[in-house]
Parts: sequence; C-alpha cells; structure tokens
Amino acid sequence: MKITSIKGFADIFPGEVEIWQSVEATARRVFNSYNFSEVRIPILEKTELFSRSIGETTDIVEKEMYTFEDRDSRGGDAMETTKLTLRPEGTAGVVRAYVEAEMYKVEPVRKLYYMGPMFRRERPQKGRMRQFHQIGAEALGRGDPYIDAEILLLLSDFFTALALTEPSLQINSLGCSECRPKYRESLLAFLKGRENLLCENCRRRIDRNPLRALDCKEPGCIEATKDAPSILDSLCAACREHFETVQRLLRQTGVGFVLNPRMVRGLDYYCRTTFEWTTARLGSQSAVAAGGRYDGLVQELGGPAIPGVGFAMGVERLTMLLRLQEGALAHGPELFVVWVGEKARDWAFPVVHRLRQKGIAVEMEGEARSLKSQMRRADKFKAGSVLIVGDDELANGRAVLRDMATKQQQEIGLDRIETELMARKAS
Ligand code: HAM
Repeated sequence: MKITSIKGFADIFPGEVEIWQSVEATARRVFNSYNFSEVRIPILEKTELFSRSIGETTDIVEKEMYTFEDRDSRGGDAMETTKLTLRPEGTAGVVRAYVEAEMYKVEPVRKLYYMGPMFRRERPQKGRMRQFHQIGAEALGRGDPYIDAEILLLLSDFFTALALTEPSLQINSLGCSECRPKYRESLLAFLKGRENLLCENCRRRIDRNPLRALDCKEPGCIEATKDAPSILDSLCAACREHFETVQRLLRQTGVGFVLNPRMVRGLDYYCRTTFEWTTARLGSQSAVAAGGRYDGLVQELGGPAIPGVGFAMGVERLTMLLRLQEGALAHGPELFVVWVGEKARDWAFPVVHRLRQKGIAVEMEGEARSLKSQMRRADKFKAGSVLIVGDDELANGRAVLRDMATKQQQEIGLDRIETELMARKAS
C-alpha cells in the first residue's frame, strides 16, 4: 500500500531546495550584518505558552493548534499528563527561552533570529500550509522606535538582496495599554450598532476582541466596518510620537510604506508598531512577512518588564515569489564535464574531484554516453558551464568551455580550468 504525506505537509525536493538554501543563506548574511544571532528553540512547547501569548480568542489558539496530551511517568508510577503543542509561530518560544535562561541578567538587549517549521491546522491552499516555514527575528530589550525602523530596514535589505521588487510595506500602530482600551471601547460601541451585519465568528468575539472584526474577510464584516473609527486617531501622545519617529526614519532611509489603520494582526501580543509586507502576486495569501512590537510579552511569560519587536516571514511564500521571477531557478552545478572516450574520462575524474574540493559544484557522467546526450543532461541539470573534453583536447592541452546561459564558447588551456572557474565563482 502506498503511504502518502499528510494534507498541508509538503516535501521539498532538489530543484526547489536550492532556492530555500539561497533564501536561508541570504537571511543569515543580512541578519548578521544587523548583529542578530541565531537561536534554536524546540518545536514542541507547553500549550499554555501559546494560549497565553498569542491569545485565547485568536484563530490560531481557538482552532489551529496541533495539541496533544503527553504522558510522563516522572520515574514513579504516577502518570502526569501535560498538554503540548507543535509551535504555530516562533516569538513565544524565543521569549520563553529568553526568560527561562534569564538572558536579560547579563544583557537585556538581545537580537535573535530563528528559522524552521511551524504548524497551524488551517485550510490548505496556495501559499497556506499546515506545516510551513518561518524565518524570524526578535529584538528584545529595546523600546525605542529606532529598533522598529531597523527591523524594517533589515527586511527591506533582505528583499533587495534577493533582487525582489515585491513585497511592499504596510504599517500601523496598535497603541499601548493606555490608549488601546479607549479605542477598543469606541470601536465596540460602533460595532454594536452594526452587530447584525457581522459574521457569527465576529459577533461571538465582539466583547472579548472587537478589533478582530477589522481583519475579518467576510463581506458583511468588511461592509460593516467600512467607516469604523481609526486607531491612529486614538493614540496617546507617547504612542503617536513613537509611530511618527518610525515613519520619519523610514522616509529618511528611503523605505516606502503605506499606512493601514485597519491592520490588526492575528496575534494578541502586539502593541504600537505593527507591519505586514504584502504582494498581490500570490493571490489571497498576500502576507510574505509580518510582525510588530510586543512590549508586554516578556512580563506575561514571567520575566521583567522588557520590550520586544520582531517579525517572521513565510519561506513558502517567499520562494513562490522568487519562482515568479525570471532567473531565480537557475541553480545547478557550476560545471558539467562532458567527456568523450575513456582517456578523457580518466583525466576528468580527478580534475572533478579537485574542483569539488575547492568548493566548485561539478558533475560528470560515469557511463559512456554520446556528446549530445551529455549536453542534454547538462542542460537538464541547469549547469552553469560545460567543459567538453575528448582525445584531441587532451592531446593539445586545450578544451572548449561553454557558458550555458549566454551560449558563448571559449577555448581554454586544461591547466587553466581551475583558475578560470574560481574567478567566475568570485565574480
Ligand atoms: P504571522 O503573521 O502569523 O506572524 O506569520 C508570519 C508569516 O508567516 C506570514 O506573513 C506568512 O508569510 C507566514 N505564514 C503564516 N501562516 C502560514 C501558513 N499557514 N502557510 C504558509 N505561510 C504562513 C507570526 O507568526 C509572528 N510570530 C511574527 C512576529 C515575530 N511578530 C513579532 N515577532
């Protein structure tokens, strides 16, 4: 019987995985340049961590978490059960680790990043998986708007490094514990007047989480909230100043953005600056990266009052965007050695070995095939260049090196191949 994978869980095969690797490598490089260090946290955590941080009335906690009871005999007979959850996101785990290790005691300011799988039982569709992957970063210990802007600059630099012209940035401020309750009240009063237009879900959550109605995709809710009061009109002086500074810094550094006062985000821990990088190219799953400030979360999870701000991007969505872009898939060995005749094969084998030791990706066939068939294989493998070696080439010490993208050929001394390929790699 054939056993298939689970709905919403995908394999990532060669051909695709190279794009992932290049996204990951670019992230590491750009994040390092902003002085972020990697942290690796568990995939499984106590359920309570997520319900407390993400919020009981969010979609994630209400219906999307993979939760099970784990038994632990603690060395004796008595079985204790603990509710565990496959992490639906990374922020809660990073903050839990920061608090548990008391990282703040040595130095409260920590810039951490992570990458790995996350799990949400959502309805799978294009760009929406049940196991998906995030690359995220969290800056803990800084409450100033400069770090909010820095996070957005980092993302902007990251997209530029991948030569992406999309996604584009939307920002909002959700205020703080002082001004948001007032906004919440005025929004609640507004919604109560239109309750009959709201969907069942929004009506059910209206008292506990009225802001969610602004984010609802149901046509009735969109219509009902069209003229809802804007949170930006309710910000206290400190939140307004913070948000204005973030905007000024973005303007100063040339990062384009649009204000979106309806952006509420699907997680409850946010305050002040929130943002989403979205694209119209991926259909309804438009958010490629998202995040914001969460100044109460460290304390909520048992630590001192330490602020935080961060983001996560969806790697599936990013790679989909890259696939839509010309040339993003041009990954294969840098060189494919095409050999004709046994002498050429025996010459090529150690040469290929030496080049691989130098870090150049090279491929060659083991069994005799025609020149045409080997050229077809090089093409299929998306090789950068092809070196063609036969008896004549060996005899006069020169061979043809063909650039597979430009189709240009050059004659090259066999003793120059390594230098030539190293030079191409460096350029
Ligand atoms: P989030 O908006 O829930 O935020 O997810 C961030 C990104 O993960 C989304 O913009 C999207 O690209 C990707 N994503 C989410 N769900 C799925 C899915 N089912 N399939 C594919 N991709 C998905 C967070 O997770 C926060 N922890 C971000 C953050 C970090 N805020 C502060 N620090």
